[in-house]
Amino acid sequence: MKGPLHLVHSIEERKRKGLFRSLKSNYPKTDFSSNDYLGFSKNGLIEQKIKNLEHFSSGSTGSRLISGNSLFVEELEKKIAKFHSAEAALIFNSGYDANVGLLSSIAGKRDLILYDELIHASIHDGIRMGYAKYYKIKHNDIEHLKRLIDRNKDFVDNIFVVVESVYSMDGDSAKLKELSEICDSKKIFLIVDEAHAVGVFGKNGKGLCNEFGIEEKCFARLYTYGKAMGCHGAAIVGSNALRDFLINFARSFVYSTALPLHSLLMIEAAYGLLNETKQNVRLKDNISYFNSLIKGDDKFIQSNSAIHCRLFPGNHNVDIIESQFKKNDMFVKGIKSPTVKEGAERVRICLHAFNTKEEIKKLVDLINE
Ligand SMILES: Cc1ncc(COP(=O)(O)O)c(C=O)c1O
Repeated sequence: MKGPLHLVHSIEERKRKGLFRSLKSNYPKTDFSSNDYLGFSKNGLIEQKIKNLEHFSSGSTGSRLISGNSLFVEELEKKIAKFHSAEAALIFNSGYDANVGLLSSIAGKRDLILYDELIHASIHDGIRMGYAKYYKIKHNDIEHLKRLIDRNKDFVDNIFVVVESVYSMDGDSAKLKELSEICDSKKIFLIVDEAHAVGVFGKNGKGLCNEFGIEEKCFARLYTYGKAMGCHGAAIVGSNALRDFLINFARSFVYSTALPLHSLLMIEAAYGLLNETKQNVRLKDNISYFNSLIKGDDKFIQSNSAIHCRLFPGNHNVDIIESQFKKNDMFVKGIKSPTVKEGAERVRICLHAFNTKEEIKKLVDLINE
């Protein structure tokens, strides 16, 4: 059975606009696109750390509230909380699940959520699933945030502000210091998604909140394990009350089978690697080298993270440059409108610890051509 006609119509419309997406698996060799910033997913070190384990259960057998809980996961959560200077941590099956669970449950009808306009889709989805009022803040615009707070504060019970410490599409960073001061002074709850900052910034890759010394000023922080950490899953860290609340009310936590033991072992091993390897230093070195090569090119969005974007306005131009990279066996993703605004089409480059200087030079040469 083919199903309703609108499926075919939507696909045709996407194809007509040149926006049809399909799954691919034969990636070009030189990786400037994956989120594996430190190379942990492929360098074998995580496997080495856990290979002595004889018995792996293939599944966790249930949600954490039924049969999927273990002393191991609770101990791991304590270690994660300690590493990130929080009272408590709660592991979710993915960053998407964590954001949806948190944002859909944490605020009620009389609350307000203010979110940066470039925030990740998982946060949007979570907000829309909840009952709170919400407004978007112009990207990184502190004055706009202040106006929204002043305009609304007398009509709501609680205000939550949600930002990413490193924005996934632009690679730039939130003004965390100013945000934490404003939230602190106005009794507003700050939520920071550190998906693209963990492993990259802070002492031993603890994230950007650590680098700015504001970890304990945040109401909640999200750390994901599918990016620099090279495995899978995510944790929300915050107070004991927040953890208890999420165990009771975050539906993506309550109604989903928990991660199996081998995923938890990998998360534990990846945290161990953050402390032990020098991959973080290699990544920082590559970021500095890349920034020195692109100096003066104002089509690049300013970034000190692993993510760098260079504008090539027009979907057609993005297609051309993407295929040039492919010819050179380089994996670089183009980002088209409407994923980004018209005129802000771009290529998105992810730098890694394992990229060589020669590869980075060749990439920049290609862009300059
Ligand atoms: C900022 C941000 N938050 C959350 C997520 C979702 O994390 P996960 O891939 O673990 O579901 C992503 C993934 O791209 C992201 O970029």
